[in-house]
Amino acid sequence: MRRLFRRCSVLLLFLLLWNVEPGAWLHHALSRAWAAQRNLSPLAARGRELVTDLNCAACHQIEDQTPQPGAPPLDFEGERVRPEWLFDFLKQPRSIRPWLRMRMPTFRLGDREALAITKFLETQRKRHDEPLPAKFRFAGRSEPELTDAAKKLMTPEYLDCLTCHLRGKESRSVKPDERAPDLSLVPQRLNPDWIIRWLQDPQSFQPGVKMPNFFDDESSGPEDILGGDEARQMIALRDFLVTQSSDPLPAEYQRAVRQNPDVTPEMGRQLMAQFNCVGCHGDIPGLPPRREIAPSLAQQGRKAQVTWLIEFLTESREIRREAYNLGTGGRMPNFRFTPDEAEAVAEYLRTLR
Ligand code: HEC
Ligand code: HEC
Ligand code: HEC
Repeated sequence: MRRLFRRCSVLLLFLLLWNVEPGAWLHHALSRAWAAQRNLSPLAARGRELVTDLNCAACHQIEDQTPQPGAPPLDFEGERVRPEWLFDFLKQPRSIRPWLRMRMPTFRLGDREALAITKFLETQRKRHDEPLPAKFRFAGRSEPELTDAAKKLMTPEYLDCLTCHLRGKESRSVKPDERAPDLSLVPQRLNPDWIIRWLQDPQSFQPGVKMPNFFDDESSGPEDILGGDEARQMIALRDFLVTQSSDPLPAEYQRAVRQNPDVTPEMGRQLMAQFNCVGCHGDIPGLPPRREIAPSLAQQGRKAQVTWLIEFLTESREIRREAYNLGTGGRMPNFRFTPDEAEAVAEYLRTLR
């Protein structure tokens, strides 16, 4: 017993040192053991891995698979991103964090649906009692002096932002939980005033996030840039990041707002409950907890032909007008599978009988 305990603690220490999330590691190890025992072909085993990574178990019951919340938290999305960006992203989700194995799928949202969800997510804010002081408000441009200071602050000699943040698709970070989004997305994506709050205290939004508190007191910023003034250093970084490009924001959101004045946040709340967004994103205030809103895939191999499955996974259209549980209004989303991926997943589903 004591030996077992010692072995376990050595293993845990090893996992901690390597900064591997024990939960995810165990999850994959068990999943692989199960696949080996089932004697799956290499193609079906690849399909099973995709089903695990993409978290199909968020909505479906499938073998031993358990749902794993691994998508970013949405409980401060209304402060973090611009509504123009959000609306556009919901209609055409794309990768923001290319190192994630999970993917934000496409729910084929119409304008009214995407607008409703945007409005509901706009209500997702962490309460910050004090309003942002006027000096921090974004003025719409960056002074040359501040731009130079920001570029210097971001270098490896100072705050080394690109040790974690992507530039293009490249990240220097080897630790998965320190990887962070491409900072060239900032102008289109982020609310300028939120960036100040984030730089001031990232943990107050996302407890445990690996973004350092660079500016938590009056002596934290480097002394030889902008006279060691932390407030001006934060403004410099924010102004530089937001004004890197002057591309206009996507115009579709404003048009949808004008054309659908009756759409409310409550409609978006209901849609997000129906679609079970919490299955991947974790709990969101105002929404019910995760539910299995989709049919069990236990007998899928008996029910469906591989060709039908491949087509369905690629196109994923509506099968049941009133959705699987009458009235729940669930929808099978589209994961933008490549032909190879769709074939592998279908091959795996075929083995479920
Ligand atoms: C199968 C899992 C899954 C489901 C279901 C899901 N998402 Fe996501 N979502 C993700 C992942 C993974 C990301 C992160 C993508 C990235 O960063 O590359 C994401 C990202 C997002 C983002 C962007 C977050 C940011 O960084 O600003 C929003 C907004 C979002 N999802 C909304 C929704 C809504 C609304 C629903 C329900 C209609 C939903 N998601 C359902 C997996 C999922
Ligand atoms: C030790 C790693 C690390 C360093 C160094 C770091 N960040 Fe971050 N940063 C993060 C993480 C982790 C996140 C949250 C990632 C997520 O949402 O998936 C983040 C998020 C952000 C965001 C929000 C991005 C978005 O699109 O949602 C901004 C802006 C940001 N950081 C700015 C900076 C700046 C400016 C610097 C340098 C002064 C910096 N960061 C240095 C890890 C880091
Ligand atoms: C956000 C919830 C959700 C996620 C995540 C999800 N599905 Fe579905 N899926 C559904 C719903 C709802 C239906 C029922 C659609 C209908 O009846 O119109 C469905 C239907 C299906 C069907 C047809 C089942 C039948 O016999 O009617 C298959 C196959 C399927 N999903 C596979 C997958 C796979 C593989 C994944 C992961 C890559 C996945 N699903 C992820 C919600 C989801």
